[in-house]
Amino acid sequence: MKIARRVAAAVLVAGIITALGLVGWSWWTSRLPGTYSVMDYGSADFGGGAKASAEMEHARMGHARSVATLNGPRGVPDRRFVLTARRATVRLSSGREIDALTFGGRAPGPELRVRQGDLVEVKLVNQDVDGGVTIHWHGVDVPNAEDGVAGVTQDAVRPGHVFTYRFRMRQAGTFWYHTHEVSSEGVRRGLYGVLVSEPRRLARAPGVDMAVVAHEFGGIQTLNTTDGVGRRAVAPGTSVRLRLVNSENGPQTFTLTGAPFRVVAIDGTDLNGPTPLVDSGLELAAGGRYDVAFTMPPRAVALALADTKARIVLSPDGAGDALPVQVQPRRTFDPLAYGRPRATPFGAASRFDRRFELDISRKPGFLDGRPGLQWAINGHIFPDVPMFVVRSGDLVKMTIRNDTGSVHPMHLHGHHMLVLARDGVRASGSPWWTDTLEVHGHERYELAFRADNPGLWMDHCHNLDHAAAGLTMHLAYEGFSTPFRIGGEAHNEPE
Ligand code: C2O
Ligand code: CU
Repeated sequence: MKIARRVAAAVLVAGIITALGLVGWSWWTSRLPGTYSVMDYGSADFGGGAKASAEMEHARMGHARSVATLNGPRGVPDRRFVLTARRATVRLSSGREIDALTFGGRAPGPELRVRQGDLVEVKLVNQDVDGGVTIHWHGVDVPNAEDGVAGVTQDAVRPGHVFTYRFRMRQAGTFWYHTHEVSSEGVRRGLYGVLVSEPRRLARAPGVDMAVVAHEFGGIQTLNTTDGVGRRAVAPGTSVRLRLVNSENGPQTFTLTGAPFRVVAIDGTDLNGPTPLVDSGLELAAGGRYDVAFTMPPRAVALALADTKARIVLSPDGAGDALPVQVQPRRTFDPLAYGRPRATPFGAASRFDRRFELDISRKPGFLDGRPGLQWAINGHIFPDVPMFVVRSGDLVKMTIRNDTGSVHPMHLHGHHMLVLARDGVRASGSPWWTDTLEVHGHERYELAFRADNPGLWMDHCHNLDHAAAGLTMHLAYEGFSTPFRIGGEAHNEPE
């Protein structure tokens, strides 16, 4: 009897020690080293395609081609800009002052306007942003070395230093730029701006073409720097294009009242055959863009951010006295069946070279030594996430499944993805190309893209706090490697 009890006690103690050991082990192994390469973490996922493991091994050992060689074209630029990152006080329309980090002393930073086809050169000067800064061209499929990700495609630019970006602007549409060094803090504090690429051939230029960024400054919702009512005179009959950008971490719903409008572009790609909408709320993903167009009526039109005081009123006399009341949108715009179908280079019936699954869930565990309920990708907590490996030219299918109750705006750098289906329902409207896809809780999207832009690309949630909390992974082209490191001397910290 005594012996049996002793054995039981010993087993219990051994069990507790094992359990503690396991917890200790998972804590120990979750800690990130002081400096590391993104090539060294996670596990390669070949999506059922060719493995090329020897090449991946080479990449890990540093024999692969450096992504730093994937520069934009040389030659004389068509457009040149200088963006100076510096601390500044930003004044909102109410007079409220924000202690911000800025490009050029304002937030949003200077609006960069280029023409499709231009060779663009942007010199980034860091005047006094202590943490360092980079510029990521969100939605522009630039060559990898111009992508602006600290610790992956370059070192963060320290105060007193410069970095020059060069790329050919092949796309036409609405894009934005932002720092990708400690981006969760930098973007929130003001290191972002709009990049507009005008089509090379424009039948009729809109009379008013205006970018409007939804941003939250320390709890205050704004449209550009308007935290109340902004007004602008627009003559009736004028064609108006509003370029809506969401630089926040969560989805934002815009309402446009006073005129029927069309959504003419999503994420920098024009839609085919968009039809007029009335009283539809436009829920825009964090990081996403919608372009809307309408003809100015002989009365006021208001663009508002739902559930906030921020609005911009366009009216014939600029007084906007006939201020439309804030309407609750009757329905929410859904791109899945909007507009007319049109031929695409590939589709649901294509033969795919690789198929990747990206499942987002929550899981208790350690993130860099900190215990908590963590984000997980395919069941694993960062840095134990997959790295999707492709070969140049591959046609790729990606299925994103959100097994959490939160919204995740998933952003793939360097590529545009064609939406094939949501929750098994085929996309049936205009081709819907996206770079930042809002995936609601328990939704599943099927997407396709061509792997035609070699390098090492982030694929992450654009709720930048989620990204910083581990919702980050990479798409890697075999044969390429990065010489840059996270952490270390340059203090590279992309999230
Ligand atoms: Cu706009 Cu990796 O981000
Ligand atoms: Cu998220």
